Amino acid sequence: MATNNLDAYWMPFTANRQFKSAPRMLVSASGMHYRSDDGREILDGTAGLWCVNAGHARPRIVEAIARQAAELDYAPVFQMGHPKAFELAARLVQYLPGGLDHVFFTNSGSESVETALKIANAFHKVRGEGSRYRWVGRERAYHGVNYGGMSVGGIGPNRRDFGPLMTGVLHLRHTHNLAANAFSRGLPEHGADLADELERLVALNDASTISAVIVEPVAGSTGVLLPPKGYLAKLREICTKHGILLILDEVITGFGRLGAPFAVEEFDVVPDMVTCAKGITNGTVPMGAVIVRKEIYDAFMQGPEHLPELFHGYTYSGNPMAAATALATLDTYEEEGLLTRAKDLAPAFEAALHGLKGLPNVIDIRNYGLVGAVELAPRPGAPGRRAFDVFLKAYELGLLVRATGDTIALSPPLIISEAEIGRLADLLGQAITAAA
Ligand SMILES: Cc1ncc(COP(=O)(O)O)c(C=O)c1O
Repeated sequence: MATNNLDAYWMPFTANRQFKSAPRMLVSASGMHYRSDDGREILDGTAGLWCVNAGHARPRIVEAIARQAAELDYAPVFQMGHPKAFELAARLVQYLPGGLDHVFFTNSGSESVETALKIANAFHKVRGEGSRYRWVGRERAYHGVNYGGMSVGGIGPNRRDFGPLMTGVLHLRHTHNLAANAFSRGLPEHGADLADELERLVALNDASTISAVIVEPVAGSTGVLLPPKGYLAKLREICTKHGILLILDEVITGFGRLGAPFAVEEFDVVPDMVTCAKGITNGTVPMGAVIVRKEIYDAFMQGPEHLPELFHGYTYSGNPMAAATALATLDTYEEEGLLTRAKDLAPAFEAALHGLKGLPNVIDIRNYGLVGAVELAPRPGAPGRRAFDVFLKAYELGLLVRATGDTIALSPPLIISEAEIGRLADLLGQAITAAA
């Protein structure tokens, strides 16, 4: 092992005591595989944490990082600029339709969410509608770990221990419905009417108090919950009717996961803002972004010309290292057709995953593009334990998956081959059987 002192590092979202008693240490990576410290090759079934969409150690990206560090390592991003941030913003907006044409850079998905929520309220304020302050989130949503994102998020344990959250936050019901939709292939049939809950929240709280609705097009971190057919279009319609901004959190779905550059295009729903991160730099240098419609940006362009129009930003917003890395990432995606490749592979991925139906404790399988999930019946009295056991077994067999609750989530790099899809399903099947 590279180190024998594991004590000092407090690991994030990790069972620290369990890990430190039996560490799983990754020491290098290339293409579709990690290598563990005991010399084993591990098939990456999760693109790291839903972020390494082009696979690992891609030459263009590696070179860009080295080159940029030597050329311009850092430049102040407040009241100063450097060319690559502008170039990146101009390239990013080409992937988004519907007048989503201005970009605010951040360093993570969590920061993108906070930024979007702040922009929403400030937008209403600059237009004389400062009474709109409420945000609407959804049960089982994950929007990162900062106070805004936690508040609009819908995961009990993520909220439970942190005191009063933001006030005025409302939640829609989640759309996961095993009774009606189990083993759906692609988008589930039932549940579009759950979007009507927004009308109920508007009736109770009055539209004049509601600033924005934020949802993930596909809720990833709580187990790959796909939007029922028609659900997102309905949410868009109700938001428009009441002057409420719609924010789509594309931190996971952005950059090709569903078979199109963004879910905006794949699901044909144009929000007012898109949040992204992760795949923007192929998971290498931290970066995130909020892409907003022209009307939003334009609304702020007023007041004294020497003052910032929005009092918000991070030391590393659009910093040179991240911007150069993102440009090289987009080049890689483009050259290899990766932003649409999930569409071609979806049938093979779907067939392989659904082939696991009938294995012990499998109660649902769902998929879209190159994202999928296998939901397991919980061990009695021990929620999450069965999926955790499958995760451990899969790692032992040479496959990295993500356990969330009692669901195994899959999101392999978009360079995966059909043979590797077969291997992924085979190893997962073995792990599920062994953990029964
Ligand atoms: C939809 C969504 N939003 C926000 C985040 C938070 O991103 P980060 O961990 O980069 O802060 C995530 C992370 O998985 C996510 O899936």
